[in-house]
Amino acid sequence: MQRVLVTGGAGFIGSNFVHHVLEHTDAVVTVLDKLTYAANREALEMLPEERCTLVVGDIVNEELVDGLVSAHDAVVHFAAESHNDNSLKDPSPFVQTNIVGTFTILEAVRRHGVRLHHVSTDEVYGDLELDDPARFTEATPYAPSSPYSASKAGSDHLVRAWVRSFGVEATLSNCSNNYGPWQHIEKFIPRQITNLVDGVRPKLYGAGLNVRDWIHTEDHSSAVWAILNHGRIGETYLIGADGEKSNLEVVQMILRLMGHPQDDFEHVTDRAGHDLRYAIDSTKLRSELGWQPQYRDFESGLAATIDWYRANEAWWRPKKAAVEAGYAAAGQ
Ligand code: NAD
Ligand code: DAU
Repeated sequence: MQRVLVTGGAGFIGSNFVHHVLEHTDAVVTVLDKLTYAANREALEMLPEERCTLVVGDIVNEELVDGLVSAHDAVVHFAAESHNDNSLKDPSPFVQTNIVGTFTILEAVRRHGVRLHHVSTDEVYGDLELDDPARFTEATPYAPSSPYSASKAGSDHLVRAWVRSFGVEATLSNCSNNYGPWQHIEKFIPRQITNLVDGVRPKLYGAGLNVRDWIHTEDHSSAVWAILNHGRIGETYLIGADGEKSNLEVVQMILRLMGHPQDDFEHVTDRAGHDLRYAIDSTKLRSELGWQPQYRDFESGLAATIDWYRANEAWWRPKKAAVEAGYAAAGQ
């Protein structure tokens, strides 16, 4: 039995990961989460208390982190400020949590010899041209565009340096855009679904031609668990499910699934420095660890996600007005 400390385990991907671990393994989980605006405490409430404990706290709190790390066999580090648009308005918490927080975790796993898996993003590689046949691989040079992706790139570099200089036992993964239940409604897909529930037209940044490589969060979870248990120390694994779609295609799919005409959307102010295209080549993960995505049909995964947001309006409704007021102030 493993005792696993999951930072950010109340967030979108972290909470789905905790559900995955409790369902598919016999590990016991402690979640360390600050419960920022992005957290979903509710997602953890239905889990058995004897296998999942929530500790509310900040990953930059050295004493707290040290005590928790010393009592676990492994740390899976999801905690982060995660939204690009927020990082353009105020980068400060991104530097604090994503860089100083990761440093704090690294020092604790170094002191106690605890295994670490660091969860990162494909955005550290910058973007690709729309007509470029290339995809990101583990060898692609780092070229982050936004304060968010730069802070995640910084955290990745710290992890690699701690592996090389101090012998910390860590792996890294860089995943593409996740979708599924419990994603905050500031993000693209849940924002458009909840807009349509409210009779508001979906909002596309700029022309809507930017491409994202979608993966169901459940597939991200299974990949992280495989890397934690079978990945080679010091290695980076890219996680992706061959899900490239333009934002326009995704909006039109949501419109179709929710019974609206294909042109029932509007263009709004583009994101500053907006990355054009992300695309992941996950050959290394698939060939070395035998991992495969289970959610290969994006449209049916999206339909299930729409159903989930319709069924869980009580969870997202209290957040909706403030999120939309923030976007409206930015012309988005
Ligand atoms: P999220 O914003 O939904 O959740 C982040 C969680 O971290 C929240 O529960 C929040 O309360 C917690 N947190 C924030 N600051 C903290 C701090 N200082 N101390 C403790 N807890 C803190 O994010 P997400 O979308 O679930 O992303 C999780 C991780 O996965 C991040 O590291 C992100 O960079 C990475 N990632 C996300 C995606 C994606 O598509 N969302 C893709 C690839 C990688
Ligand atoms: O690639 C992985 C990254 O994916 C993660 O590291 C980030 O944490 C996660 O937030 C996500 O980043 P993106 O910036 O790609 O996701 P977001 O949901 O904010 O936007 C997806 C695309 O949709 C992007 O091209 C911007 C666009 N967009 C977004 C919103 C909120 C719109 O066109 N309209 C919108 O209303």
